Amino acid sequence: MTFVTATETAPTRATGAIKLHSPEAFAGMRKAGRVAAECLDMLAAKVKPGTTTAEIDRWTYEFMTDQGAVPATIFYRGYRYASCTSLNEVVCHGMPSDRELKNGDILNIDVTPIVDGWHGDTSRMFLVGEPPLKARRLVEVTYEAMMRGIEAIKPGATTGDLGHAIQAFAEAHSYSVVRDFCGHGVGQVFHDAPNILHYGRAGSGLALREGMIFTVEPMINAGKPHVKLKPDGWTAVTKDRSLSAQFEHTVGVTATGVEIFTVSPAGLHKPPYNT
Ligand code: MF3
Ligand code: CO
Ligand code: CO
Repeated sequence: MTFVTATETAPTRATGAIKLHSPEAFAGMRKAGRVAAECLDMLAAKVKPGTTTAEIDRWTYEFMTDQGAVPATIFYRGYRYASCTSLNEVVCHGMPSDRELKNGDILNIDVTPIVDGWHGDTSRMFLVGEPPLKARRLVEVTYEAMMRGIEAIKPGATTGDLGHAIQAFAEAHSYSVVRDFCGHGVGQVFHDAPNILHYGRAGSGLALREGMIFTVEPMINAGKPHVKLKPDGWTAVTKDRSLSAQFEHTVGVTATGVEIFTVSPAGLHKPPYNT
């Protein structure tokens, strides 16, 4: 595996090398991460029965452009929306539509504003009305699994330590970790090296280094881990139609540990948000 110190003159495309980012990059990511988190904060009060995911997408688009940010997902590989809205058995990449949210739904909203060239990538789960306990438990465990993965991050720890922390916690609750999608390096490139798996063996994989910036975004299923793609080419659903949940933070490896760029300024870390 190659590492490269990312400077102003380094290529901003995905080269396969893992970028070790500068303090200036961290400053850029702090701003982008904040806009991303504030966007989800803004949506918290609006997610309720009767709202459509198309409306959520429009509010997301307007929020980002008002902040001078560009939605990274519009035109990304042919995707056309400012957000991904993944409902119930949708694992990820659900497309906004005129479908109205109904009491009991669980919804992931994933947003990625580009601010001054830097990508802030984050998602949270939202509860529509009062979902049943089994849905709320899945959401709670998924949040905690993501946080355990993030807490494993420091220089010298491995990507396997991170994946193991997530997998062990999820499986202890009899849930499964999706294998078909992973976290990713991020910065001036949306999806960069390395891949961050949300499962694995402690001590395996790549040793983390100060300056790495990537996402942690586990998708946890109530049933089996298998996923199938809908004919639209984007919407990934659980093969067994079980519920799926996901949270995502963008993080940077610091000298002593980890910095989370996408923490909610309003303290709306996980539902219920009580807005
Ligand atoms: N935000 C997603 C991620 O966490 C990627 C969405 S790509 C899209 O990596 F095209 F589906 F929007
Ligand atoms: Co995302
Ligand atoms: Co991501």
